[in-house]
Order: sequence, then C-alpha cells, then structure tokens
Amino acid sequence: MTKRAIVIGASSGIGLELARQLAKAGYELGLVARRADRLDELAFPISCRTWVRVGDVSRSDEAIAGLGALLREMESVDLVVLNAGVGFNNRKLKWEHEKATIATNVEGFAACAGVAWAHFTERGGGHLVGISSIAALRGGSSAPAYAASKAFISSYMEGLASISYQRKLNITVTDIRPGFVDTDMTRGQKGMFWIATPEVAASQILRAIRTRRRVAYVTRRWALVAALMRWLPHWIYRKI
Ligand SMILES: NC(=O)c1ccc[n+]([C@@H]2O[C@H](COP(=O)([O-])OP(=O)(O)OC[C@H]3O[C@@H](n4cnc5c(N)ncnc54)[C@H](OP(=O)(O)O)[C@@H]3O)[C@@H](O)[C@H]2O)c1
Repeated sequence: MTKRAIVIGASSGIGLELARQLAKAGYELGLVARRADRLDELAFPISCRTWVRVGDVSRSDEAIAGLGALLREMESVDLVVLNAGVGFNNRKLKWEHEKATIATNVEGFAACAGVAWAHFTERGGGHLVGISSIAALRGGSSAPAYAASKAFISSYMEGLASISYQRKLNITVTDIRPGFVDTDMTRGQKGMFWIATPEVAASQILRAIRTRRRVAYVTRRWALVAALMRWLPHWIYRKI
C-alpha cells in the first residue's frame, strides 16, 4: 500500500522541499499551511495524489478540527511532519511577536501533535516528526520566545517518545534540529554560517525519517555546535 504523509507548513522553505522529496520517494501527501496560492503552486507539479488544506495552527481549536478532518479523509497516514513555525528577532520583546511565536510553535505544535498521536494510536503505529532547532538547546538573546518554543518542542517530543516506549505504541518520534537553512525565515539575517540549502536540509531530514532517528541535527555537523552549546557555561554563553 502506498505510504501517506502530512506536512504541516508545506508552503515554503524546508517543508516545501521536504514535501517534494517525499513525493519523489513515493508518498501520497496532505499539505497544510496558511497560504493557499503557495500550496497550489506546490501541489500542481507534484505527480502524487495530494490533499491540500489551508490551515492556521496558531488557532489551536481550528487546527485540531482541521487536522482531524484531513486525517479522516486520508484514512490512514503513516507520517506526520510538524514543520510550521515562525521566528522573530525580538530583543525588545514586542509582545505581538512573542505571542505569535508561542501560539504557532508551542500551542499549534502541541495541538497538532495530539491529533496525530490519536490517529497513530488508533491505527497501531506511525511516525511523528517535529522540526525543532539547534536553538532548542539554550536560551536565545536575539529571539527569546523562539528558542524557548523550540525547547518546548524538543522536550515535548522526548516525552512522547517515552510514552510510546512505555506503552509499546509503535509510534516513532523524531526530533529534527536544523542549524541555519536558507529560507524566508532566515533571509537577511546576519551572523549565519554553515548555511544549508532547503534541498540539502530536506534530504537529511528524509534520511532521518527512513532511519527512524530519535534526534537528528541538520546538517549533521551541527551536532558539534550542539555539544559546544551544552558545555558552554552561562558566563561565556551570555556574550554570544
Ligand atoms: N531556516 C532555518 O535556519 C531554520 C533553523 C532551525 C529550525 N527551523 C524551523 O524549520 C521550520 C520551517 O521553517 P523555514 O525555515 O522553512 O521557514 P519558512 O520558509 O518561513 O516556512 C515556514 C512554514 O511554516 C508555515 N507556517 C507558519 N506559521 C503557520 C501557521 N500559523 N499555520 C500553518 N502554517 C504555518 C509557513 O506557511 P504559511 O506562511 O503559508 O502558513 C511555511 O510553510 C520552522 O519550524 C523553523 O522554526 C528553521
């Protein structure tokens, strides 16, 4: 039977490229984001069967209903990728930016994870993939809510992986932690290095999916930065 996947946040950047590569790998796809025109542009050239849904995960009640309806329509979904995310440089702590980050990356993530979890539990297994970030590892001075939201995502997924293990649920949970990727989110940002293209990032994410990794750094060399970030004492880290 053909495998089915849903990518939430499929209209640009990493999610768009991952959707393209999943289609090439033989998946049928559910595609979700807020920008209908971008989703249609993506879905049209993809040769596989697609279900396109406009949805805003920051409205968590609507997201729960929308994802539930999509899962029912697709009937049996093997893989759900929670990629939707926003981030703002916000040293001045403008509340509208912090609020949007929390609503999308925290509330939206947990709401969608719960719906996917129920689906996988009912069908006897599945694969939940969350796009976190290297930023999950420490507090971030340029985007405090973004780093905290990614810490939430990584921690939440570790909790879900433990539930799956303890209850023998046959649900794989993969925490993807990208470094810098050249997308709309990072365009114009200063101080970036080891910048991956969305194509390279997506191919490494696909490999992590195939190999059912618990945690994967994208690109892989970011595991070195992760080790350094964990080790750096605050009195040095606070200067970065
Ligand atoms: N680029 C990087 O360097 C980097 C590094 C680490 C982690 N990440 C993570 O990677 C993920 C993808 O980001 P990207 O870099 O590819 O940026 P991007 O091109 O801006 O893509 C973000 C995606 O999320 C969707 N999205 C945002 N808010 C949404 C909402 N409320 N409801 C539904 N969909 C929403 C966007 O679609 P619409 O706008 O059409 O809704 C878009 O498809 C994010 O979670 C980001 O935090 C990126």
